Amino acid sequence: MKIGILGGGQLGRMLLQAAANYTVDTYVLENDPNCPSAHLCHNFIKGDITDFDAVYQFGKNLDAITIEIESVNVDALEKLQSEGVKVYPHPSAIRIIKNKITQKQFYKDNGIPSSEFVITESKEDLLNHLSFLPAVHKIGEGGYDGKGVQIINNEFDLDKAFSAASVLEKKVTIKKEIALIVAMNDKGETAIFPASEMMVNPALNLLDYQISPALIPEKVLWVVEAVAIKLVKALSSPGLFAVEMFIDQNDEVWVNETAPRVHNSGHHTIEANYCSQYDMLWRIMLQYPLGNTEPILPAAIVNIIGEEGFSGNAVYEGLEEVLKTDNAFVHLYGKLTTKPGRKMGHVTIMHKDYQDLTHKANKIKNTLKVKAN
Ligand SMILES: Nc1ncnc2c1ncn2[C@@H]1O[C@H](COP(=O)(O)OP(=O)(O)OP(=O)(O)O)[C@@H](O)[C@H]1O
Ligand SMILES: [Mg+2]
Repeated sequence: MKIGILGGGQLGRMLLQAAANYTVDTYVLENDPNCPSAHLCHNFIKGDITDFDAVYQFGKNLDAITIEIESVNVDALEKLQSEGVKVYPHPSAIRIIKNKITQKQFYKDNGIPSSEFVITESKEDLLNHLSFLPAVHKIGEGGYDGKGVQIINNEFDLDKAFSAASVLEKKVTIKKEIALIVAMNDKGETAIFPASEMMVNPALNLLDYQISPALIPEKVLWVVEAVAIKLVKALSSPGLFAVEMFIDQNDEVWVNETAPRVHNSGHHTIEANYCSQYDMLWRIMLQYPLGNTEPILPAAIVNIIGEEGFSGNAVYEGLEEVLKTDNAFVHLYGKLTTKPGRKMGHVTIMHKDYQDLTHKANKIKNTLKVKAN
């Protein structure tokens, strides 16, 4: 089979690593010929994933196509689907998710718990919704890595609001932030990975590390899994979906957002689960049985992020020490240059004991630094 991936970032790279176990001819469309995926696929095509013609030409001779980022040309994917190319996930699902306004409306229409919201078109619009505060303002399209999100606690924060079409949603008092990956094949069979928990550094509001399986009471877990399955069934599309959720102070569950693709919250599944999220997506696209999502050991993911104050050719400080750690698996994404905040890689650590796991994750976080020469 000939299968294409739109986007050539690290998610595509890890997807391609998993493809090497199967008989599949891989294609990548991406503008940057030195992107993390460029040298791992069989066929690299330089082009713009948001451009109709580029996506259509790329896809028209393929058997199936998937995405590693959702800002793609959905019109072209729809045309390809109508001409018989299999698209994972369906363009209809990408279209709903791609815009935070249609995504929130979808949750509302399908009885998926997600915090109450209003739609705003301009900064001034927020003046009509002061009673809605504290809230979170999210730009409809074009936001990524938290850049399209502003917390509006009170009227003094209003200048942080977006002037484009956006969602203003009630701020949830978060106890835990989790993510769950759900896989669905063409027959509608589903498999669900154990939830991952995001450990956030409250001082910096940065994602510090993730652990999986998340430590949540069984009763809450039932709700979390039921909501995630209901959501994916409502999207009624095969593929892999990462559902980000909040658990609030009363143990109520709220969907934050969904990613219709392999996800950073599932990196650890490469080593820590019998079937990884990447392997799972190939199984779906190649029409093989779904894999076993069970964890082998609890795991933590530490992101390797470009250090503040360093830009240029990347140098990894502390790498040897991390590589000496038992059950620590280093993944560098093949990006030659670093800049502050750039995701350069991750480390997965596995340990049966959660306290040791947390301790090791913190140690790795403080040891491994991306600088530049
Ligand atoms: N309704 C909410 N109440 C409280 N906090 C929120 C709410 N919505 C978002 N946040 C916080 O803001 C973060 C980023 O929001 P969101 O996931 O929607 O944005 P994003 O741009 O997709 O970011 P990322 O790419 O990091 O996932 C969340 O992980 C959460 O910590
Ligand atoms: Mg998010």
